[in-house]
Amino acid sequence: MTVRVGILGATGAVGQRFIQLLDDHPTFELAAVTASEASAGKTYREAAKWRVDTPIPDDVAEMEVVETDPSAVPDDVDLLFSSLPSDVAAAVEPPFLEAGYVVSSNSSNDRMAEDVPLTIPEINPDHLGLIDVQRDERGWDGALVKNPNCSTITMVPTLAALDRFGLERAHIATLQAVSGAGYSGVTSMEIIDNAIPHIGGEEEKMETESRKLLGSFDGAELSLHGADVSASCNRIPTLDGHLENVFAELSEDPSAEAVREAMHDQPSADLHSSPDQLIKVFDDSEPERPQPRLDRTYANGMGIVAGGVQTTTDGVKYNCLAHNTIRGAAGASILNGELLVEDGWI
Ligand SMILES: NC(=O)c1ccc[n+]([C@@H]2O[C@H](COP(=O)([O-])OP(=O)(O)OC[C@H]3O[C@@H](n4cnc5c(N)ncnc54)[C@H](OP(=O)(O)O)[C@@H]3O)[C@@H](O)[C@H]2O)c1
Repeated sequence: MTVRVGILGATGAVGQRFIQLLDDHPTFELAAVTASEASAGKTYREAAKWRVDTPIPDDVAEMEVVETDPSAVPDDVDLLFSSLPSDVAAAVEPPFLEAGYVVSSNSSNDRMAEDVPLTIPEINPDHLGLIDVQRDERGWDGALVKNPNCSTITMVPTLAALDRFGLERAHIATLQAVSGAGYSGVTSMEIIDNAIPHIGGEEEKMETESRKLLGSFDGAELSLHGADVSASCNRIPTLDGHLENVFAELSEDPSAEAVREAMHDQPSADLHSSPDQLIKVFDDSEPERPQPRLDRTYANGMGIVAGGVQTTTDGVKYNCLAHNTIRGAAGASILNGELLVEDGWI
């Protein structure tokens, strides 16, 4: 089966990752690339300042970039990946949905809307059922699916594994790579020889999105998970890969070994881009792992890596890591696209 796809915001940092990850995809065939008015009409090679570590695929380099408007995208495109700035996405995603397109979006607008699935296919695939609710409420034929923020997706699979011991509270401190802010997000004068203990809006996203992802859907309504989540976000001078220190309070009292086993056993999904082993867990013989430079490409950047698991007086503490522009952005949207196809929404 071939599904024709387009990318909204294809020239940006996340858009370029989409193009890299879609090259040679067994199901998705790239048929449209959009960007701002300033880029429309140019070839992709002319419009994009390419910064990914593999060359622009030849066929994409010569594609014409079109405006981000439904009339500019061919009707036979079945699925759109969106990597637009959130304010732009909030304005332009609805017309695409009204025109009947299915949109798998990275942008943070609408992630917490009650009728929008916020999905990690290995964790809460059943939340896609919200599409029926969304179509009823919004009256459109399209479907909007979101993936979470990059720092949220790094920790949620590990929290899902811990939930079998009764997750009550999680405190997280992040060490986030500069690519998460986009190419022009943090200047070299700000970040070299430095750490910045605040990332606007990020803490709230981690606190709210995680409760939605771990929540339950009864076929009509979604209930948020009851755990308290509090996050403290730090930008550090790594290029890619968010590292997080997690302190979790549990109603049960598992050993560190039982926690490592639960993480190791957390199921993956049977989708092309899912890792065979969702969470790779280092044991206490390597307490200095995971590290961004060494571990961010685990499972082609689609896996989660954990380590440093220790028990505390009221639960456990550990570290986890994921690649923020692959598992945390473009790869997450593509995986949601694969789930949409697998479940028959496309
Ligand atoms: N960077 C990450 O690690 C990361 C992780 C998770 C989620 N996200 C989210 O993903 C989205 C994209 O981030 P990014 O870092 O890729 O941003 P970016 O590098 O600034 O790229 C933005 C893209 O949107 C297009 N665009 C900008 N204004 C537009 C307009 N008015 N109409 C149509 N297209 C417009 C740009 O086209 P031109 O080239 O023509 O300007 C470009 O293709 C954001 O919502 C971000 O929060 C990013």
